[in-house]
Amino acid sequence: MAGRSEEGSHKACRAAQALLQRVDKVTELVRIAAVGDVHCTKTSDGTLQSLFSQMVECADVIALAGDLVDYGLAEEAHVLVREIAPALKAKVPVVAVLGNHDFEAGTPDVVKQILCEAGIVVLDGDAVEIKGVGFAGVKGFCGGFGRSSLEPWGEPMIKSFVREALDEALKLESALAKLRTRHRIALLHYSPIAATVEGEPREIYPFLGSSRLEEPLNRYQVNAVLHGHAHHGAPEGQTSAKVRVYNVSMPLLKRHFPDRPAFRVLEVEREEPAATNGHVPRGEAITDRIGAAASA
Ligand SMILES: [Fe+2]
Ligand SMILES: [Fe+2]
Repeated sequence: MAGRSEEGSHKACRAAQALLQRVDKVTELVRIAAVGDVHCTKTSDGTLQSLFSQMVECADVIALAGDLVDYGLAEEAHVLVREIAPALKAKVPVVAVLGNHDFEAGTPDVVKQILCEAGIVVLDGDAVEIKGVGFAGVKGFCGGFGRSSLEPWGEPMIKSFVREALDEALKLESALAKLRTRHRIALLHYSPIAATVEGEPREIYPFLGSSRLEEPLNRYQVNAVLHGHAHHGAPEGQTSAKVRVYNVSMPLLKRHFPDRPAFRVLEVEREEPAATNGHVPRGEAITDRIGAAASA
């Protein structure tokens, strides 16, 4: 009897340990705070600092979905670097893609260089692993969605316009192919689906994104897609393969969630221990947990 009782106690102990391990696993989170379209200008000094400070308080990684500056000017990029200094000082990694506004002055490489020199990781068809989570980033391009997508037919200008969208989709695909992480986040500026631009005038849908970006996201089964650009779109949608898509455009978040900080937090569950920055997520931040199914 005593032996059976001892065996029973071992079993209970093992069950308790397994439960604890399971609890450990689900509490290992990497928190990604995301926003797009901050449109930093030459006169934005002091206007974005509190946003970035709040992001630092509740995240392990900050993701910026393009239109970082307003006219693509070096002066604007320097202001942005000063505004985001709290995050960089706190050693919270910042990953970003450029948006169409960052190209306006014709010198996107200068904007990119200023941000990179400050410590921001600017992705353009590249991938990076941060705290065990893979990020693939590309600006993307427009051209429309589904059966209304612009086709490469007729004038050379139309063909080159469509070629740009195809090239961006290929860059996204090659970035995703480089990732070996269990969890993958795609960071874009343009939308890959129509659902997250709903709310914008229908006439401008073709200029807000392209379905050509959707196929690699489905094929590589990313955990979530973050994008901006459609300031008046919808906050959430999903691809045809049920990949979650979040429009994190700052004006959109301000309008849809006026009582919350203007960014979105994704909590990525990991099986491996994650070194978080020790900050507790602010209760009021819009938070979505992803990767649960993959971890189970
Ligand atoms: Fe924008
Ligand atoms: Fe944009």
